[in-house]
Amino acid sequence: MLRSKDPKDYFEIALSQIKPGVALDFDLQLYFPRNQHIIMWRPKGEALGEEFLTNAQLKGIEKVWIHNDDLAKYEKHINYTAEVDALTATPEPEPPKPEAQTKEGAALKEILSDPNVPDEKKKEAAAMIAKDMLARTANQNSIKDQKKANEQARKSIEDLLAQTAAQMSSAASEIWKLGNVDAELGHAVNVATYAVIFAMAFGRIDVELLSDIALAGLLHDIGFSQISSKVASIPLKDMTRKDLMQYANHVPATVALLEELAPEIPQRVRTLIAQHHEKFDGSGFPKGLKGFKVDDIAQLVGMANLLDDMSTGHWDGKKRTLKDTFETLTALEKTRTFPEHFNPEVFAAVVRWIKDAPAEDVTENAMEMVGKKVDQIIYKKEA
Ligand SMILES: [Fe+2]
Repeated sequence: MLRSKDPKDYFEIALSQIKPGVALDFDLQLYFPRNQHIIMWRPKGEALGEEFLTNAQLKGIEKVWIHNDDLAKYEKHINYTAEVDALTATPEPEPPKPEAQTKEGAALKEILSDPNVPDEKKKEAAAMIAKDMLARTANQNSIKDQKKANEQARKSIEDLLAQTAAQMSSAASEIWKLGNVDAELGHAVNVATYAVIFAMAFGRIDVELLSDIALAGLLHDIGFSQISSKVASIPLKDMTRKDLMQYANHVPATVALLEELAPEIPQRVRTLIAQHHEKFDGSGFPKGLKGFKVDDIAQLVGMANLLDDMSTGHWDGKKRTLKDTFETLTALEKTRTFPEHFNPEVFAAVVRWIKDAPAEDVTENAMEMVGKKVDQIIYKKEA
């Protein structure tokens, strides 16, 4: 439990100071300067392995914060040397693979990871499940229900990615989990979730691609740390031209941070991030790319980003359900002679899937399509 919410009660240290394999005698916190938010990261008693620490640094966690009262314990920790070598020499046991949290997550994992199912069937079955998830996420009538639906979708995608892509089981899945406790990361996780669902609904099922999309969603705004927090908190529609120019800098800042902190991140992830604010009519930023010059997957990440910005109030200060957001966006695009935000065919397909939500259990049908039964998949049934 967090002892204080006041950042002044904590001191900052480099994560590299933490000794691998040594049980912590103090809590480690993370600090988000944009909203002056401090959150618990690793509790007292935990011993962080070398691989875990390396992965955390790769994803940009370079600094951690410790409560001022724990200064003496921290000093004792950094002077700890003798037993450390012995401890780190022992390989960490592989943690057991968790059961999937949702039926959809378990089914997607089962379908996409089966080498005996032909690709066309996989695409069809995954698209069915994804469209169903999309329809359920975008047909909620209250903000409270929207939150629950987002949470369910997030769990399904977490299941799919954690169990099928090695990349997700390390760096990104840790950020993904933090999305539960920090609102700022909540946006990142929502964008990642929506974008992966869109991609699957459009028949894109390559797990490396899905993992890259998720990573792009999770990291797309880390450059906010490099621009004024005052500007970042102004609703987009209220921004002056000057505000908008400063705000736009978060995109190149994100790309630069990734190059510096995680150069091994695939180029595709960087392209998706670099283009997440481009618009179909060329009025986006930073490059003003027009129409089909915007990467087709980046358009999906951009759509996910705008949807969550509009739902969470970052767009015009008003919170909405995803259903209201789609209605607002549809009305907005209709007022234009040339569509502003998205390729109209892509947007129309998404709107159609949401409106034509099927009533029956789609997961069951999708599993049958690939010759499997739902009761053969392993997932934690909710109480
Ligand atoms: Fe952004």
